[in-house]
Amino acid sequence: MEWVLLNGEFFPRKEAKVDIEDRGYQFGDGIYEVIRVYHGKMFAVDQHLSRLQSSAEKIFLQNPYTNDEWKALLEELIDKNELDGGSVYLQLTRGASPRAHAFPDSSVLPVVVAYTKSFERPDKERKYGVKALFVEDIRWLRCDIKSLNLLGNLLAKQKAASEGCYEAVLHRGETVTEGASSNIFIVKNGVVQTHPANNLILNGITRQVVISLCQANSIQVDEKPFTKQELLQADEVFLTSTTSEVLPVVEVNEKPVADGKPGAVTLKIQELLEKEIEALSKITEG
Ligand code: PDD
Repeated sequence: MEWVLLNGEFFPRKEAKVDIEDRGYQFGDGIYEVIRVYHGKMFAVDQHLSRLQSSAEKIFLQNPYTNDEWKALLEELIDKNELDGGSVYLQLTRGASPRAHAFPDSSVLPVVVAYTKSFERPDKERKYGVKALFVEDIRWLRCDIKSLNLLGNLLAKQKAASEGCYEAVLHRGETVTEGASSNIFIVKNGVVQTHPANNLILNGITRQVVISLCQANSIQVDEKPFTKQELLQADEVFLTSTTSEVLPVVEVNEKPVADGKPGAVTLKIQELLEKEIEALSKITEG
């Protein structure tokens, strides 16, 4: 049986119901997180919960749980669903109330939903890399908030998918921002470069982990915007996300990146991340 978490209680998936006037459903008025699970344990859970808190504050939404409460609830959900490898999805909306754009009064409580998904790691993509397509970034100017409003991302991803590509590389004019559901990095002369964490991108947790791993392993990282042209002339391009991990991008707009094969720095970063994942399996709860 598959269990889901709804407002602090566990229900069999089919029994969990949300109101049709939930503001998440009607306005996308809410936020979410996707947390990776390896060996039954959440990866970088503290960073995800702190991003959740910051998204909540940015939209003036009350986060109903402390980080310890969140962790206990999500761990219980993972255990109940016997999840080994996959993810936990959680979302928080401004609750259900008669449709009106302005916020409801404080008696309307946020609605919390969480569920798990089991899936395999993207082994083939990690090894051989993926194709990407440039798509103009038409999203709003608060991409730092992990909002439920994802239409701009969906339209871009669909355009990429319709052309046989794994990801859309979003750009505002000539400047590359991020992927439709990932962060984008280039490598030039051994230096790793990615868009700075400002309002134009989501500060990915995998992005943050990769930057720290580079810094701890003498790989120079520059958080500085780069152009489409610089990306096309890079030695390596890779993307990062919770579900995709670290994937080489070997082709953009049907042009190979360098020799069209995953690059050495990308492979090194994959290896460093692998050690972090392995370390997770050795942590015992207590
Ligand atoms: N997406 N940028 C965007 C627009 C994203 O949607 C995501 C993640 C990222 C990478 O963030 P992280 O490393 O924290 O996963 C960057 C998730 C996985 C999703 O929406 O499914």
